[in-house]
Amino acid sequence: MMDRFLIDGGWPLHGDVAISGSKNATLPLMAAALLADGVTTVEGTPDLQDITTMAMVLKVLGADVFADAGRLRIDTTHLSNVEAPYELVRKMRASFYVLGPLVARFGRARVSLPGGCALGPRPVDLHLRALQKLGCRIELDGGYVVAGTDGLVGAKIMLDLASVGATGNIMMAATAAKGTTVIDNAACEPEIVDLADMLNAMGAGVSGAGTRRIEIEGRRPLSPVNWRVIPDRIEAGTYLIAAAGTGGGVNIRDCRPDHLTLLLDKLTDSGFEIEQSPITREGEGKENGDALTITPRSERPRAVDITTAVYPGFPTDLQAPWTSLMALAEGDAVITDTIYPERFNHIPELQRLGAQIRKDLNSIHIRGVERLKGAPLMCSDIRAGAGLVAAALAAEGESTVLRVYHLDRGYEALDGKFAKLGGRIRRVRE
Ligand code: UD1
Repeated sequence: MMDRFLIDGGWPLHGDVAISGSKNATLPLMAAALLADGVTTVEGTPDLQDITTMAMVLKVLGADVFADAGRLRIDTTHLSNVEAPYELVRKMRASFYVLGPLVARFGRARVSLPGGCALGPRPVDLHLRALQKLGCRIELDGGYVVAGTDGLVGAKIMLDLASVGATGNIMMAATAAKGTTVIDNAACEPEIVDLADMLNAMGAGVSGAGTRRIEIEGRRPLSPVNWRVIPDRIEAGTYLIAAAGTGGGVNIRDCRPDHLTLLLDKLTDSGFEIEQSPITREGEGKENGDALTITPRSERPRAVDITTAVYPGFPTDLQAPWTSLMALAEGDAVITDTIYPERFNHIPELQRLGAQIRKDLNSIHIRGVERLKGAPLMCSDIRAGAGLVAAALAAEGESTVLRVYHLDRGYEALDGKFAKLGGRIRRVRE
């Protein structure tokens, strides 16, 4: 399980890479399957450890989950349990997404609190307060959230922060509430829109997803559906940034450029040329398939500042990869993370490659260097790890990347996809 990557860097990436289905969309879609009785299928799903963990959570609840070739079949006919145990929830915070659907379906749930995380504190207070507003009793017992209700009732909910997880959980719970629920300051992320679209296909009455105000008209029962998940914008962004770092030319297939607008602007500001071309996919009901091509470039990137923010702002999940790119930029860049002010575990690792970075509260100042040099590195979380791999592919000489199990949680076949792009990357199994 403690596999590592050996990377011989400094070679431009080139060729074609297909983007997988979105991890962060698939996880709530899987939880949403709990809202209906019967078999829901989700197509285009990535083969990832986090998806396996969510499948285990659903199985513990009594669902039958079967994964095969990018397709998940979730049968909820025999749900028998309302407890999501600590052993699973601590592995993956997104397991907390089952809380809303369980309360909606059974009027009760017992879900472990997720606990700490490498990105800093990540509370669930907004999820809980909103459920209370919908008429749910919430108690904490031995590290578990115990929720119960005699019937959810629609309410007006104003989120202090536009939390993705809280918005998704409330939306799912509110499908079963009597009357209308309004979420103000809702998250606008594409993953929330995908969830709302699937809920509506199941018979729910959700409107406004993708804006700051979402309205949910309670309707029961919901029916199982077949759904195709949206492409992973964070994966697409990671490959674009990694290609840029090596000066290579890469064609990113099956992505949604409209989910990456700000990143594309920042890459353009940094001197890269990106072309967008729609491609046709035969036999697909839903339009997934645009392509983005980044053209090769021999000059260094220009330094460009970013500040992470809720969608459509710059995604915090691309902060570490962007930091790697700026480590090689001409000039000084300032990077600020407003979502997770402590999300800088990759900095000491990038410094091992020769990056010049100074940390200052929730910002970092980077003075770009002409070249990075390979070194042993260690991943601390999914996206920090992706930033390290991108940097190691650009750095001259050999790097070892330890703890790639973090990457296996969130990037489908990362080593295989980079190898196909000509990256000299090899997995050493332990
Ligand atoms: C999701 C993504 C994650 C991404 C994050 C921010 C999934 C599975 N994960 O995580 O990859 O980095 O969005 O885009 O989709 N907060 C509270 N109280 C709460 C909930 C959140 O204070 O009850 C705070 C968090 O600590 C954080 C901010 O709100 O500072 C945003 O968190 P949130 O949007 O909820 O992130 P997740 O849904 O956990």
